[in-house]
This record gives sequence, structure tokens and C-alpha cells, in this order.
Amino acid sequence: MIYINLPKIGEEEIQAVNKVMRSGMLTSGLGMGPAVTEFEKGFAKMAGAKHAVGVNTGTAALHAAVMAVGVKHGDEVILPSFTFVATAEAVALAGAKPVFVDIEPKTYNLSPSEVEKAITKKTKAVLPVDLYGFSADFKHLREIADKHGLALVEDAAQAHGATYAGKPVGAFSDVVCWSMYASKNIMTGEGGVATTNNEQLDETLRMIRTHGEKAKYASLILGTNYRMSEMQAAIGNVQLGRLEGFVAKRRQNAQQLTKILEKNSKLVLPYETKDRQHSWYLYTARLKDGTETQRNKFIQELKNKGIGAEAYYVNPIHQMPFYRENFESAKLPETEKASKQVFSLPIHPGVTEEQARFIGETVLSLL
Ligand SMILES: Cc1ncc(COP(=O)(O)O)c(C=O)c1O
Repeated sequence: MIYINLPKIGEEEIQAVNKVMRSGMLTSGLGMGPAVTEFEKGFAKMAGAKHAVGVNTGTAALHAAVMAVGVKHGDEVILPSFTFVATAEAVALAGAKPVFVDIEPKTYNLSPSEVEKAITKKTKAVLPVDLYGFSADFKHLREIADKHGLALVEDAAQAHGATYAGKPVGAFSDVVCWSMYASKNIMTGEGGVATTNNEQLDETLRMIRTHGEKAKYASLILGTNYRMSEMQAAIGNVQLGRLEGFVAKRRQNAQQLTKILEKNSKLVLPYETKDRQHSWYLYTARLKDGTETQRNKFIQELKNKGIGAEAYYVNPIHQMPFYRENFESAKLPETEKASKQVFSLPIHPGVTEEQARFIGETVLSLL
């Protein structure tokens, strides 16, 4: 089976973890350990941000970010429904209401005009996602946030290596949240990072990460334990150095697939511009005018041929039982349509040129 994603673990990662284990310093308290400190420095540089705060999952980064920008019980946060559920969890965990708005069909990302329509007196923040590794429309989203005095928190869990206006994604947001989960472009098994250019937010994020403390046993704000371990950071330090190569290989595989698949008029292929470069976390196409049944059958046929295709995401969040029961939502026609038609193909760095050709040709033969 050619899996949809597979972490690249080399001898260097293994040695880095060994070194931490032998040192006996596996984690830390208020002041972070040497591996986490090095990781934060390296990650901030990669992201083009002043500060990076290492945490134990991408979900933790999102929750801490939503808390740090001041979202509280009774507030509303505008976000897409067409994303991984963690984006909405962060809002609900902060006691606020997730207000789901529709996407632009071409990019699968939050539609700025729909965001503007959903703003109320209770809106506190906007939380766009760089879905599949393609940046949301941040120039517009920043303008809207500024006009209405809202915070902008970005879910860049899938976007390591993506650019927007020639810079790493995230330059327009107050806090940017990254996942280091095992499937991601770079990974630490489980892990996450929040980046920011704002000194105050950096300090707040660090406090939330360790029980709201600046000094031990004297919590100043509500916090929790979202600390990253030294083992996680040690893996991350090696992976950071490999990101460029990983993304280049993903891009190469994506380009090969596009070359093969662009001949077929039944497919809509991923969108990219010079100005907004993909991280190629997922190569996602859609079956033009296809039904959900056709799409699911197509994915099963690919799986039968040894290709681990998947659909992200079959259930938009506003239709999941918990969210449907607790947070009413408007209908989201583009989201609902995309969730029935999209499918993703493996392009991770472990996919060889020959396998990429096989994937492309198999897709064509099954259409
Ligand atoms: C879009 C998105 N948001 C948030 C997350 C949550 O990250 P994590 O699994 O590290 O908690 C993920 C990844 O799993 C994701 O893909």
C-alpha cells in the first residue's frame, strides 16, 4: 500500500532522541530545556516569525492561541467547517461559539466575503485554515479583521513550507498554529508550535503552556500543561533541517501527478499561484459533478490497487453530531459540495517517481 502520508525517520532522528534519553533530561518546567529552546529558535526562523512557542500538539497550539488573543465564554469565532475538527475544538474549549462560514471552491479556504457577512457584535476572532497546505486569502482577511477590531489566528497545521506573497505563511496573523503530528510535512510524533510577532502574545502563550505561570506555583492566568518534551524537540530539530528537501520532493510528485491528470476533464486539480506556493501536504483533486457515492467508490477502487487515497473531510464540522447539537449553523453549500467530491492522493517524500506515475495512470484508468 502506498500510504497517504508516512513520516520520514532517519538515523539522525533516532540518534537525537537517544542523546536526550542518555542525558536524563526528558522535559522541563517553567524554563524549557535545551532541545525545545533550539527547536523554537529554528522554527521561528523557518516561519519568518519573531517568536515560536513549542507545545505538545497542534490542537494545544490552537487552544492556547485562541485563549491568548482573549476569546472567552460568550464570544464568537469565525472559522471554516471544511477542516480537521481540532480547529473548532479550540473555540469550543475556550467556551466560545464556533461560527462556521463557507469556503471558496477553488482554494477550499475561508471566503473573505462570507466572513464579513458573519461578523456580529460578539465576534472576537477569525480563524482561517491553510487547507491541504495552501494559504488562505490573508490580505483580505487581515483587512476585514482590522476594520472590525478582530484577532486573526491562523491554523497552519498543514502548511510548513507554504508561502504567501513570497513569505512563509503566517505573516498576516496575530498567532499562527502548526502541528508536528506524525503525518505532517515535518513531525515530532505528536507536537505543535504557536508563532507570533507580538511580544505580549508570546509571553501569554508561554504562560498558558505552563499553568498560567511566570513564577513557579503562582498562576497569574488560566493555563494548563501544553509543554513539548525534549524528545519531541530533538526530532523536530533534525526534521527542520529536512523540510526544504521534503517539500521539494512533494512538489515534484505533485507536478508529476498534475502532468498526467490534467488531460482528464472529469477532474479539478489543485490550485496554486506564483504568489501563493503550496506546501503540498495533500494533493487534493475533485470529481467534477461527481456524487458522494461515486467518489467513495473511486477511493475504494484506488485502495484495491494499493493506493492509499483518502477524502479530507467527509464530514464538515457543522454536520458532526456534537457541533450540530450544540452550535446551530447556516447551510454551507460549497463546503457540503466539496466534502462529497474531494479525494487526496499520496505525494509524501517516500513516494518514488515510479509510484507517482503509477498513481496518476491508475487514476486515469479508473475514471
Ligand atoms: C487543519 C488541522 N488543524 C489542526 C490539527 C491538529 O493538530 P494535532 O493533530 O497536532 O493536534 C491538524 C492535524 O492533525 C490539522 O490538519
